[in-house]
Amino acid sequence: MPSGDPTEHPTPATTERASCTTGLMPLSQITASSDPAVLYQRLRNDWGPVAPVELEPGVRGWLVMGWADIKIIASNEALYSRDARNWRDLKNGIVAQDSGLGPMMFWRANVIGHDGREHRRLRAPLDDLVSHIDPRRLRRSVESLCTDLVSGFAARGKADLISEYAASIPMLAVAGLFGIETRTGFQLLAGLMALFGSGDDSQAGNADFEAILANVMHARRSRPADDLTHALITHPNLRNDDEILQSMVVMISAGYETTLIWIAQTLRLMLTDPRLAGRVNGGRLGIDEALDEVLWRDPPMTHMPTRFALRDTELGGRSIRAGDALVLGLAAANSDPQIRTSGESAVSLGNRSYLAFSMGPHQCPSRDPARVITRAAVETALTRLPGMKLDIDPAQIPLRPSPWTRCPAVLPVVFPPPPATA
Ligand code: HEM
Repeated sequence: MPSGDPTEHPTPATTERASCTTGLMPLSQITASSDPAVLYQRLRNDWGPVAPVELEPGVRGWLVMGWADIKIIASNEALYSRDARNWRDLKNGIVAQDSGLGPMMFWRANVIGHDGREHRRLRAPLDDLVSHIDPRRLRRSVESLCTDLVSGFAARGKADLISEYAASIPMLAVAGLFGIETRTGFQLLAGLMALFGSGDDSQAGNADFEAILANVMHARRSRPADDLTHALITHPNLRNDDEILQSMVVMISAGYETTLIWIAQTLRLMLTDPRLAGRVNGGRLGIDEALDEVLWRDPPMTHMPTRFALRDTELGGRSIRAGDALVLGLAAANSDPQIRTSGESAVSLGNRSYLAFSMGPHQCPSRDPARVITRAAVETALTRLPGMKLDIDPAQIPLRPSPWTRCPAVLPVVFPPPPATA
């Protein structure tokens, strides 16, 4: 077994952050790979279901790949906290305050950063919101916004389905549920892109994003409406404007990248896998089964950050130290050999036991509305752009660089333009 226990940290004083590497497999190498399964297998052979990996140069963490081990860390908050203020490497200065890991891993005052009773207090309003979403109304509004997007490029006979289509849909759809009009939805999108770009305009993007939502919240106070903003403002669990605002921020931002990737990966699969496309187009497979296939093969959160060990413990045969960071290997767990009998395929019709939405108290509250949005987006593209074909070698589709996700950066397509109307 190779050495490289993630607990063997050099002291911050001797660490050259920019040039230091841990000698471990970088998470971003796995997400960038054309076949992550090969790398997961290599890690399993070397370490078993819980492997040390590099989160960014010089920063170590554990990748948890076993289905049963993920269940343990996602369910046991007394031992594995969601609160990044417990992260030893952050407290010790091994992780820089401006680290690219920040947007996904640092603590924020919202539902994601709390455990136990405080988490449940902040989570209940989100579950209540989701239960009030009318799926038929949501579907109609997503179909209408997707049809508008397609109309913007259809006459050209070609488009990039990421930048011109999938990238706008989740934001506009969820913003619409909060009573936010399309023009403001595009402004929110610009702020969020800047925030997650981690560039010079990142702070400004965050400020714009929150300022727009604060305006929406204040406007809704004077003009109540039947939307999710009103439902949050009037929820008894939320104590002040900041908690209401942070609940809006988390719902709109958590659903953005995940739903975008689900749409993008399903369209990619339909355009590159003739077997699947043939079964869907021939009516032998519904779109829902194609969506499930993506959640098995390429779940939107490939690696879900993060849990932090509260005590020294043992997991999957590895010694975990208090303050260690653990990443949920949701894609790896979907193909965990321990839950498969040999020769069984990754996907079996109607089986939704994938970990794409995680499990335990922090599991995604929005799997149903996310499916409504994704299904409407995929169906609208397939229906409105008949004869659509990929305009790039499938093996050359680039991925956006990220340690957490595998999102196609572009998906260029060509299609017969609709006949001109007189
Ligand atoms: C309308 C779209 C969506 C919204 C509004 C949404 C919202 C959220 C929120 C608020 C959380 C934090 C819950 C908590 O900490 O208690 C969350 C967690 C999560 N969501 Fe979603 N989500 C959406 C779509 C998706 C999609 C499409 C996926 C993947 C298929 C996904 C996967 C996850 C995962 C893996 C977590 C983390 C669970 C954990 O930490 O264990 N979400 N989502």
